[in-house]
Amino acid sequence: MAEWNNGAGRTAEPPRPSRPDGTVPGHIAIIMDGNGRWATRRGLPRTAGHKAGAETFRRIATYCKNIGVKYLTVYAFSTENWKRSEMEVAAIMALLKRYLLEAVETMERDHIRLHFFGDMTPISPELRALARETDEITEHLSKDDFQANVCLNYGGRNEILRAVWQFAEDCAKGIRDPWDMDEEEFSFYLDSRGIPDPELIIRPGGEQRLSNFLLWQSAYSELYFTDTLWPDFDEAELDRAIASYQKRDRRFGGVKK
Ligand code: IPE
Ligand code: IPE
Ligand code: MG
Repeated sequence: MAEWNNGAGRTAEPPRPSRPDGTVPGHIAIIMDGNGRWATRRGLPRTAGHKAGAETFRRIATYCKNIGVKYLTVYAFSTENWKRSEMEVAAIMALLKRYLLEAVETMERDHIRLHFFGDMTPISPELRALARETDEITEHLSKDDFQANVCLNYGGRNEILRAVWQFAEDCAKGIRDPWDMDEEEFSFYLDSRGIPDPELIIRPGGEQRLSNFLLWQSAYSELYFTDTLWPDFDEAELDRAIASYQKRDRRFGGVKK
């Protein structure tokens, strides 16, 4: 079993799954919100909240893998988050770099596939090179392995626009015919191509909105909101979200049998 870093520099056995019987979602997506408020409430700079949030991500990703979730998609930095101070943006990018450096070393050993959603063009060449490296490692891992998708400079609207531009280009080249476009074909042009839509989207931090997250893919996702701030989010919170999901009646527009 993979070692679990509890954030205080100690390692221990990962917490045992305490899952009630029922289907664990194959794809969980999380809007990792509340880092800034977590830090401010403690009289710390917002960047300390992002550092704590990064630890929570490590911990929750390990837990998801252990309980049999196949895909975990996390919102790390939105297309709108550039509005924040240069210092805060730099701190978030530095944390991502640290995570990627660590991932390059450990993902093969731990069987963790890593993939990015978002427009990487304005991201620093150094981070982009690391993302390419993790992509290459992912290529060598089995498709059955757990996969984390990190949304970086991601916006649902931007993702849809980029898909439309690419499709238009393919039509102009004669590779595609505009009349062939359907939902399945369109999904192929999104960052999430080949990945099923998330059954469950969780937003900690108290806000009840999507903030431009997975606009296409969330069409029939179950939504779960909690006031817990992301750095305080733990395995028990995830269990609660999954338990809530398991009680939902997913009708997809049909009628309950
Ligand atoms: C989420 O936490 C992380 C990012 C958006 C990068 P916030 O930084 O938005 O935290 P709050 O919402 O201000 O507390
Ligand atoms: C959403 O959180 C983006 C991420 C968690 C990366 P925000 O804090 O940016 O969202 P708003 O501003 O509250 O809608
Ligand atoms: Mg926020």
